[in-house]
Amino acid sequence: MIKKRANIEKFKYLLSNSLEKHRVMGMHTELRKKLLSGEKKIGIWGLGYIGFSSMAYFAKEGVSCIGTDIIKERVDRINTVGKSHLPNMDFWLGFDTLPLVKSKLMYATTDWKELICEDVAVHLVAIPTEREGKPYDDILVDVMTKLFTSYKKFKPAEPPLIIIESTLTPNRVDTLILPMAKKHGLRVGKDILLGVAPRRDWFVSPDKTLKTLPRVVGGTDPYTTDLIAEVLGIVSDTVLKATDHNHACIVKSIENAFRQVDITLANQFSLAYPHLNMTEILKLAGTKWNINTYHPSFGTGGYCIPLAPQYVLEGAKHPEVLTILKASLETDFSQPQRVAKSVAKRGFKNIGILGLAYTGDIKVAVLSPTIALVKEFKKLGIKVRVNDPLFTPDEIKEHTGAEAFEFPTGMNEFDAILIVAPHMQYKSIPYMEILDNLRKCKFILDNMGVWKHLPFEKHGIEYHEAGDAHWLEVEKDGNESH
Ligand SMILES: NC(=O)c1ccc[n+]([C@@H]2O[C@H](COP(=O)([O-])OP(=O)(O)OC[C@H]3O[C@@H](n4cnc5c(N)ncnc54)[C@H](O)[C@@H]3O)[C@@H](O)[C@H]2O)c1
Repeated sequence: MIKKRANIEKFKYLLSNSLEKHRVMGMHTELRKKLLSGEKKIGIWGLGYIGFSSMAYFAKEGVSCIGTDIIKERVDRINTVGKSHLPNMDFWLGFDTLPLVKSKLMYATTDWKELICEDVAVHLVAIPTEREGKPYDDILVDVMTKLFTSYKKFKPAEPPLIIIESTLTPNRVDTLILPMAKKHGLRVGKDILLGVAPRRDWFVSPDKTLKTLPRVVGGTDPYTTDLIAEVLGIVSDTVLKATDHNHACIVKSIENAFRQVDITLANQFSLAYPHLNMTEILKLAGTKWNINTYHPSFGTGGYCIPLAPQYVLEGAKHPEVLTILKASLETDFSQPQRVAKSVAKRGFKNIGILGLAYTGDIKVAVLSPTIALVKEFKKLGIKVRVNDPLFTPDEIKEHTGAEAFEFPTGMNEFDAILIVAPHMQYKSIPYMEILDNLRKCKFILDNMGVWKHLPFEKHGIEYHEAGDAHWLEVEKDGNESH
């Protein structure tokens, strides 16, 4: 009798579960169509590189988007001028966003509550998840709290789909977000649908776009994974479904951890063989079919590569076995100090750095080697100033503590120039104009070889591209000079 009752209860449970699932599934089978027809909208949290570009790509496909950001000027600029606050955005996107704003397909607001309504069926979360070079959850917690408290009270006819595009520590959904949803009394998979689709950076190569780069996605259940793939398939040609959110989440960190180790290994090779041109050697090695070409450098920077090993280490069940990652981080983070000490050892006392951004043509200073270089030069009592056409003098001061200088005229005061970011402005300037502004300069150290084709040696200026023979003055043990 007891067994029979238990079976009936089990049957009722399974039936209610499958009815619930059908209810959710039936509601969403048309989601893509509803987005494309304008019946439903996408809400975007955070309107920086990732959020703004997502909004622009969906809008270009005819999907109505409403984005929110805490910075009023960014929001106003989108609504009035039709542009992101970030330089070169149209260049990276490959299209103009103004017509999309004019046609109301893109709209921005500081009032996030505007995103909580029947019309908005999908939320893309694209806020920062890093602070001072470390994984950082506070903004994510803020956004998730806003979403969860809202959907606790407001029950739309269809459960909203929340897709996290920001990079997360691999276990964050399970350890942070799902418990938060539970605390707010929300059933993930029923009241809300949740998953991740970490964005891959394309801001160093305009031929790799949100459309062409394969996208890895994972939901907390297979139905949600399918739905995310359906929605992101509107803008991305290839969407790859991972087993679940945990698998999708870690892909992003693992792929960048590989790159971080490879880039750092290139630096270690160069330190180990200082008398050889390692840049040339690695270029030749890269002609082998299964080897990429790596370039020694002043160290990695940006949100992705230096942070990835940290995300992987932080989320791992057994971080103690990830010895290569730990050693790689140590070498990488000490590389700017090694570079600064080597320049000091050569006797230079007044340095100009070109580029605050960690790479060319984007306005991202996160973990830029320039920040660590300035710190080290100051520690060594060496004067240093920074130029970056993408940052204001105040922003340069705020990020580095150093004063800014004008390019190219301001270069005249320095006895050595370090080029960190290969910005277009540095590449496109005629040689004679560079030379005219290097009156005191005796030494140039060029991270990515922007000026490697120019005949500085003829004019008494020693020039090195990172990785060439003797680009660093190193001690016999391969460590930095003192
Ligand atoms: N930039 C890249 O190339 C890149 C590539 C891949 C992944 N990512 C990841 O994407 C995420 C976002 O990066 P990004 O480059 O777009 O950052 P970003 O700094 O350019 O933009 C983030 C935006 O979020 C806004 N914001 C901050 N707090 C907010 C809040 N509580 N509510 C709403 N908006 C808020 C900020 O004002 C800013 O405009 C990060 O996790 C990053 O690691 C970035």
